[in-house]
Amino acid sequence: MTRGRVAGVAIAAVGVSLPERALSNAEISLTLDTSDEWIRTRTGIRERRIAHPDQAPSDLAVEAGAQALERAGLRAGDIDLVISSSLVPDMVFPATAAIVADRLGAGAAGAFDVQAGCAGFVYALAAAAAFLGSGMYETALVLGAEVVSRGLDWTDRSTCVLFGDGAGAAVVTQAPDDAVFTFDLGADGAGMPFLNMPAGGARLPASEQTVRERQHFLKMNGREIFRFATRTVTDSCVRVLEQAGLTVRDIDLFVPHQANLRIIAHVAERLGFTPAQLVTNLERFGNTSCASIPLCLAEAQADGRLKDGSRLLLAGFGAGLAWGTCVTTWRTS
Ligand code: ACO
Repeated sequence: MTRGRVAGVAIAAVGVSLPERALSNAEISLTLDTSDEWIRTRTGIRERRIAHPDQAPSDLAVEAGAQALERAGLRAGDIDLVISSSLVPDMVFPATAAIVADRLGAGAAGAFDVQAGCAGFVYALAAAAAFLGSGMYETALVLGAEVVSRGLDWTDRSTCVLFGDGAGAAVVTQAPDDAVFTFDLGADGAGMPFLNMPAGGARLPASEQTVRERQHFLKMNGREIFRFATRTVTDSCVRVLEQAGLTVRDIDLFVPHQANLRIIAHVAERLGFTPAQLVTNLERFGNTSCASIPLCLAEAQADGRLKDGSRLLLAGFGAGLAWGTCVTTWRTS
């Protein structure tokens, strides 16, 4: 694990984009051997959004990014750097960030993607904070953009019921020195077999056989990921709070990655968070992978829970197996 602290950097605004189409558990159970009851009690999910066939992660990210820029009172030309995170990006290459930067009118910005599973948004935030904290750049757009539904095997009930589509964006800017980010990032590559998409990369290029064997879809060992998440996320939160010199009582909102309500409840209880401190949205959106944390932030801001000066603990985890946790303060001015 790697711990880090960056001063003089803050999130200035967040924006979101959610596809209109809502897919309920009941609707899935019409074509698959599952039930609303199973999905709700095992995961907490009631429905998820599914992108239109024409929509890719970059399309959602452009909408979310434009909204975040407007809320921050900035123009696309003010952006120095675009960092995008997706579990399933538009393409293996080029970077989704480059596509989004061009379409937003931020073509002069540096642009790259991070791949850290569902921890991607916090990793991208850490990269942006490091660029800005060093003084190299002033303003970054950080994206979590997902059309995970396209990477799912809709005949595999153990995975397809879990995920949903959406995008979130955060404008990250230089700020007074008391605006501090504290990070704890890590990855255990030995966990690769537990969560991956086997084909479509250089190791197993697309062939008739890989398509026939459904190797281009997400594969997951749910029990292993459950074990990993409950153990690792809790430990990472403890470390990052310690590094920030804070306790759970100092945190206004805990925003964990939205994978499973049982994982979230377990981690929140072990850390000692109250329900009032916890932000969740997976009941309505499922696991939106890299988009889950910014979607939660935007919602908490809209309903008044996220205010100027709110102290936040953000915790992402997923394929890698990677985790990324951070503590920061929400600044609106
Ligand atoms: N409907 C009905 N039954 C199902 C379904 C379904 N959708 N899915 C699995 N089952 C069945 C299984 O076949 C199994 O049946 P069996 O006992 O007859 O073999 C039974 O339910 C129990 O299966 P488990 O896998 O043991 O169920 P569990 O309680 O572990 O829940 C789940 C499975 C929800 C996937 C859970 O393990 C989990 O959430 N794990 C974490 C996953 C996660 O967080 N992934 C995202 C990581 S982030 C990223 O980077 C993508």
